[in-house]
Amino acid sequence: METKTADEKYDLLIRNARLACPQGELQGDLAAADGRIVRIAPRIEAKADEVVDAGGLLLLPGGVDAHTHLDLTVAAGHVCDGWQKGSAAALAGGTTTVIEHIGFGPAGCSPDQPLSAAFAAAEAECGCDFRIHGVLQQVDAETESWLLRAKARGVVSWKAYMTYDFAIHGVALRRLCRMSKAAGVLLCVHCEDDAMLAAARQALVAAGKISPRYHAAARPAACEAAAIRELLAAARAAGDAPVYIVHLSSAAGLAEIRAARQAGQQNVYCETCPQYLLLDETRYLDPEQALRCTMSPPLRSRADADALWQALADGEIDVVATDHCAFSLAQKHAHSEDFRLVPNGAPGVEERMTLLLSAGVACGRISLARAVEVLAANPARLFGLAGRKGALQEGYDADLVLFDPTAPFAFLDQNLHGGADYTLYHGMPLTGCIRRVWTARAARGRRQEAGGRPQTQ
Ligand code: URP
Ligand code: ZN
Repeated sequence: METKTADEKYDLLIRNARLACPQGELQGDLAAADGRIVRIAPRIEAKADEVVDAGGLLLLPGGVDAHTHLDLTVAAGHVCDGWQKGSAAALAGGTTTVIEHIGFGPAGCSPDQPLSAAFAAAEAECGCDFRIHGVLQQVDAETESWLLRAKARGVVSWKAYMTYDFAIHGVALRRLCRMSKAAGVLLCVHCEDDAMLAAARQALVAAGKISPRYHAAARPAACEAAAIRELLAAARAAGDAPVYIVHLSSAAGLAEIRAARQAGQQNVYCETCPQYLLLDETRYLDPEQALRCTMSPPLRSRADADALWQALADGEIDVVATDHCAFSLAQKHAHSEDFRLVPNGAPGVEERMTLLLSAGVACGRISLARAVEVLAANPARLFGLAGRKGALQEGYDADLVLFDPTAPFAFLDQNLHGGADYTLYHGMPLTGCIRRVWTARAARGRRQEAGGRPQTQ
């Protein structure tokens, strides 16, 4: 704990807040200096460059979104954000750290190639704190040494896809589980069984059912469940290699995770996303919504969403991330007649925290403590930011979100900060909105501009 003498000043003093601390809620004050939280107490009597009366509103740790694609290029084109707009959207939504899933490099390239390119772009343009997951597009004799080399640069998590062009499954997946365990990194996996997807797609195409309305039918929940089963068996065979299932969307997939854990498997983690909690497959009945909601995995049934909410409340889901992958309406409409050609993905990084606090906490589905865990503390811990990010605690970065938990609010297509010109949640009545966001990064930047000593992150 750092206290100031009468003549010294904190950079920031937030008074009279409802502080969502890991040990429970505390009514009181928080002081920050040099971008770090230096004191939390019922009352702090000190001077500060900026003193804010929170008026009893909620103060939360800055969000950590463990699954963004702010700067992704896929066959259908480049996302409409880029690091600048994507990070502006993140900050507007209270997310002060993003962990980016990057695109593949050319076939046969080393894992370092897309990773280094992403670091260079993010360092130049990203306005919030960031981390980057590596991506694996093949598994060979070199893979483990790449994992170790990148770990030395702070890359502690890697993505593998069980579908798309560089799908990894079978022997390669089992080998990868052994290697990632040996290297001490977390393997994040997009679980959709590629062969089952191909069969479902072919059947629809043969029946002439190719409009975006059929997107969900082309990617049934059984494909997710089968892939999760295969992954968890591979991880188990590798001695409980740590694995993290991204964007869990279905009750069937959840059942696989639950069964593995009940059988004693350790080191199994999973995330879901707001779209799988708040929305459902009826959106595909409307042609415009079908385009906007073309994403992988697709939206599921209301029963799936209810199962995910329950799992979130029960602690079975570790993280709520977004899979933010924004394409403009023009990009979505360019191939609106064929679900195989519509760019997959939707925006969400700006909406995530507000949605979970509204539909989760204000509606009584999850506690505030649980929301903070899945929005900030757990992703920080799983992805190498423990002790720095994800909690209101002395010594942690002063990434702070002032949230008004009772204000009526709605996201509108036209009032977001990213590159997309729509939100999946347009006009949805919500309870609660973000009033202010402070970041450690900005505080350190200001200090540096004022001639102070540069601060490392
Ligand atoms: O539809 C999505 N989610 N696009 C982004 C890439 C991926 O599959 O995560
Ligand atoms: Zn993704």
